[in-house]
Amino acid sequence: MNNEVGIMDNSRMENLMEKVVNLAKRRGFVFPSSEIYEGLASTWDYGPLGVLLKNNVKQAWWKTIIQMRDDVVGLDAAILMNKKVWEASGHTQNFADLLVECKSCHKRFRKDHIGETCPNCGKKEFTEDRQFNLMFKTFMGPVEDETSSIFLRPETAQGIFVNFKNVLNTSRKKLPFGIAQIGKAFRNEITPGNFTFRTREFEQMELEWFCKPDEADSWYEYWANERYRWYEKLGINKDNLRKRNHGKDELAHYAKSATDIEYQFPFGWSELEGIANRTDFDLKQHQELSKKELMYFDDETKEKYLPYIIEPSAGADRATLAFLVDAYEEVIGNKTETAHERTEGEVVLHLHPSLAPIKVAILPLMKKEPLQNLAKEINSMLKEIWFCDYDETGSIGRRYRRQDEVGTPFCVTIDFESIENKTVTIRDRDSLVQERVTIKELDQVLKNKLNI
Ligand code: GAP
Repeated sequence: MNNEVGIMDNSRMENLMEKVVNLAKRRGFVFPSSEIYEGLASTWDYGPLGVLLKNNVKQAWWKTIIQMRDDVVGLDAAILMNKKVWEASGHTQNFADLLVECKSCHKRFRKDHIGETCPNCGKKEFTEDRQFNLMFKTFMGPVEDETSSIFLRPETAQGIFVNFKNVLNTSRKKLPFGIAQIGKAFRNEITPGNFTFRTREFEQMELEWFCKPDEADSWYEYWANERYRWYEKLGINKDNLRKRNHGKDELAHYAKSATDIEYQFPFGWSELEGIANRTDFDLKQHQELSKKELMYFDDETKEKYLPYIIEPSAGADRATLAFLVDAYEEVIGNKTETAHERTEGEVVLHLHPSLAPIKVAILPLMKKEPLQNLAKEINSMLKEIWFCDYDETGSIGRRYRRQDEVGTPFCVTIDFESIENKTVTIRDRDSLVQERVTIKELDQVLKNKLNI
């Protein structure tokens, strides 16, 4: 669940959020949706670089959670599900926020997002609060009535719970094990905002970890730590990252306990991911309503029981935004944290190499045939391994800056010496150090440097 607390201190850059939003638009990370028709409130499209960045975030998650583990398998469940799923999960009855309307300007707000005064007009009189269900409703088939109505999923988790037996029977996994998936979720948020932080259509990366009930508390701790480390390993500054336990009054209807991993955005500390102990709530509910047995048979103890579920649930869009914000640096006084010769006002995105949209830029020093031809050859070779960008327009300094601004870790420059002795230079985005290497060893040197 969403919960903003605290405002950042003044030490970080002024207008940081505005700057990131501008960069995102200017360089093709994120565009307002349907912009030529004045857009659609709080709906965003990922552009050519944005889709690469977000895909890299999802890939990094998939690799850590599924590929590198023997105890987690993947799934890709449908967005549309039988309506009974949402009855059983409690979303039909409980997935609601309290909505209030300002009596003066008639703007509507989530009650827990405002204080005593209207954030729009400053007046203090509101209507009685009422429950507002966040699920998007639509119709399946040609008839638009209550019997044909269905919901767009508000979380991907339920697709995993209803497939628990299918996965168990086909993968021969034993407890503890996990099922994970990445996919779209939809919520008719009352107050979306803060760029891609809170939107009505977003992507989740969810792991449902099935375990013995008496081991659930220690797995809960384990996953909260693992997930914190994931953000840290991918370069998020520890000063901007924290864990926060939920108070009893904040817990979602299915959770016994929950911890949020929060990031210090320019608009305050806000949730990136929630780790919840969902107990056997979901499996029990589905077992009851579907009348299908969802128990686990424990070979060792010969017992049958419903496993407990620990759920680390992350937002792909929120993580992407946090990585962008955290990586953003604007050069002040010709210096950055990592290099001593920059130009005031330049922007450098210090993205972790595994997240950077473009890994290597290939730049012929001049627009001259022998240089271009060799550079294109090198481009074709490196493209096989990483996402690369070939750029021959503008001065070399300008091209470096263009790459720094979108976080490209390495630029390979092809000059006249390259023709003579088959060497090129590799320029490091952060240290600005340039190193000459032979073309023969180029891919191996880059592999070592990128270390991904
Ligand atoms: N299955 C549990 C669940 O859905 P949640 O805390 O409501 O829990 C999990 O959502 C994550 O999904 C959040 O931590 C956040 O990263 C992302 N998320 C939730 N609502 C969102 C929204 N409106 N826009 C963008 N991301 C959202």
